Amino acid sequence: MALATVLGIETSCDETAAAVLRLENGVATILSETVRSQVEEHAPYGGVVPEIAARAHADITDRVVETALKDSGLDLSDIDAIAATSGPGLIGGVMVGMMTGKAMALASGKPFIPINHLEGHALSPRLAADCPFPYLLLLVSGGHCQFIEVRGLGDYSRLGTTIDDAAGEAFDKLAKLLGLGFPGGPAVERMAAGGNPKGYALPRPLLDRPGLDMSFAGLKTAASRIIEAAPLSEQQTADLCASYQTAIADCLAVKAARALAGFSGDRLVVAGGVAANLAIREALEATASEHGASLIAPPLRHCTDNAAMIALAGAERHVSGKIEPDTLSFTARPRWPLDEERASVDPAYGGGKRGAKA
Ligand code: KG4
Ligand code: ZN
Repeated sequence: MALATVLGIETSCDETAAAVLRLENGVATILSETVRSQVEEHAPYGGVVPEIAARAHADITDRVVETALKDSGLDLSDIDAIAATSGPGLIGGVMVGMMTGKAMALASGKPFIPINHLEGHALSPRLAADCPFPYLLLLVSGGHCQFIEVRGLGDYSRLGTTIDDAAGEAFDKLAKLLGLGFPGGPAVERMAAGGNPKGYALPRPLLDRPGLDMSFAGLKTAASRIIEAAPLSEQQTADLCASYQTAIADCLAVKAARALAGFSGDRLVVAGGVAANLAIREALEATASEHGASLIAPPLRHCTDNAAMIALAGAERHVSGKIEPDTLSFTARPRWPLDEERASVDPAYGGGKRGAKA
């Protein structure tokens, strides 16, 4: 029987999170989850400040881990392995979580499993839903905007990515320009509810080009020109938010349609904070059904950064043995494309080099 109980730690952006998860014959049970968000610390700056994030993680990670363990009703001796996000992300925060995990592993004699944060997101639909491989993942958050083909554990292809801003970042930038607060996505969505999505003609960058890469920086520039040209009334602000949200939804839906056309499976998963946006979900839902596919959106707490997905990735690796040797020497990686994974784990691609470079 394949069984693993894993502690997961996530500190790559602005949430300090820990979770204990049991994986039994492919079925995940979350025994406990603790998340401490830093939104309040970053709100005055309209975005995540890396140094503030690193300090906040350093202040609280040990207590968050302690709470998760206590809430699970287990003792460290009951845990089979400790998994921590080891990149990509804001490196100061990544190092805090990774070093916490390594120290606990060293002290307890349990294995340490370094996890690619993007692998956590890629596996996140499997936390709750019956979501067998393969599936197509659209990861849309403040830091990422990527299409990833998920064929199996450690078997990913990044099919396209934003060439500049992530979609969530685009929402945050508009909210900052309009003084709507941080995080910007929910604020823009609320304003957009009373606006006309055709009120402003905004660009849909890269739709005229083949491929699955995306771009959102031009959208922000177009909006900033409108905002600088003349003060906007309440209604005009709502119209701009609605037009902007629709432009992002259109870009994601057109690219998702293109991705599904070239994909042999029939599941589209959307994850990341932007997956909370109703207009975007509806656009993706329509696209999926046009292609005979179903849209799976994990519950929001597992769409956004969380430690359960890191624990799940750790547990899947633990039961399958896909762990490189000497993980205590693994160095934190600010950048770590997901498709490096296959080349480094599969011996056919020269495997076993995952910890070799930062
Ligand atoms: O996944 P997440 O919590 O953190 C990372 O960036 O990793 O995503 C946060 C992003 C922010 O940019 C936020 O503005 C955006 O997700 N977001 C939304 C909504 N809720 C959160 N964007 C659009 N509509 C929303 N309802
Ligand atoms: Zn993330």
